[in-house]
Amino acid sequence: MKSSSNYLPSFRLENKKALITGASRGIGKSLAIGLAEAGAEVYIVSRTSKALQEVKEEILGFGLKAIPIVADITKQKDIEHIFSYIKELDILINNAGMNIRAPASKVTDEEWEKLINTNLKSAFKMAQFAGEIMKKKQQGKIITISSVAGHVALNTGIVYGITKAALIQMTKNLALEWAKYNIHVNSIGPWYFSTPLTEKYLKDEAYLQTILDRTPLNRVGKLPEVVGPAVFLSSDASNYITGQTIFVDGGMTIYGF
Ligand SMILES: NC(=O)c1ccc[n+]([C@@H]2O[C@H](COP(=O)([O-])OP(=O)(O)OC[C@H]3O[C@@H](n4cnc5c(N)ncnc54)[C@H](OP(=O)(O)O)[C@@H]3O)[C@@H](O)[C@H]2O)c1
Repeated sequence: MKSSSNYLPSFRLENKKALITGASRGIGKSLAIGLAEAGAEVYIVSRTSKALQEVKEEILGFGLKAIPIVADITKQKDIEHIFSYIKELDILINNAGMNIRAPASKVTDEEWEKLINTNLKSAFKMAQFAGEIMKKKQQGKIITISSVAGHVALNTGIVYGITKAALIQMTKNLALEWAKYNIHVNSIGPWYFSTPLTEKYLKDEAYLQTILDRTPLNRVGKLPEVVGPAVFLSSDASNYITGQTIFVDGGMTIYGF
């Protein structure tokens, strides 16, 4: 007797190697722990050795495996350093990012370059390097953490929104170019999650209320709620999905006010 119907694809990530940028805290740390729990061996990347070691210990504490790599992904030599270690890779999660909330008239050249390099150029470079490995294997999953700020206009920093919109477009273009290599390229667009990036805003009750007023589910996200879509997009369960952005937003982007 057959033990399964063949209708349920696998959501598991056993024997998969995943690299998560910005895994020292916040969303990236949650993604690293979640992907490891789904069975993947995870490479965790950020600039801060101590924080990465702590994430590694936390993952080891669950009986799972993590390999920290300290790197600043805005630097070409650091990206080369990462890929001098990594010769096999099934999943890349472009998560590292930052924000400087300046209005258009006040944005300096230095701020523009910092945001473009950290949020956008680094993700593209990481995808280029990962893509070379994935093309050889004729298989891969690239997931970029964009934002609802790349889909609708928010007062949360114009350059941040520009970088996130570009990441959503990068996702579509890479998906188109690399479909022939069986590389699936998708994006996740979160709304508000409490992390070191956002917690000071969420502690402001009036600000929080303006967010909740625009969120049909009437709450901010819980970190495991971004892990589920990331595991899905990393797994065989999403093999006919490419070029898409899944908004993990409590309904924010469907709300017309
Ligand atoms: N939290 C939200 O509500 C929210 C909503 C929408 C989108 N997002 C996006 O989700 C992603 C994660 O956000 P988060 O809230 O978790 O932010 P976070 O708590 O500030 O974490 C950012 C992560 O990126 C890493 N990082 C930053 N610059 C780096 C660089 N040059 N090289 C390597 N690593 C770097 C940081 O590590 P080190 O400092 O150790 O290098 C840290 O691990 C970002 O792309 C953000 O735009 C977040």
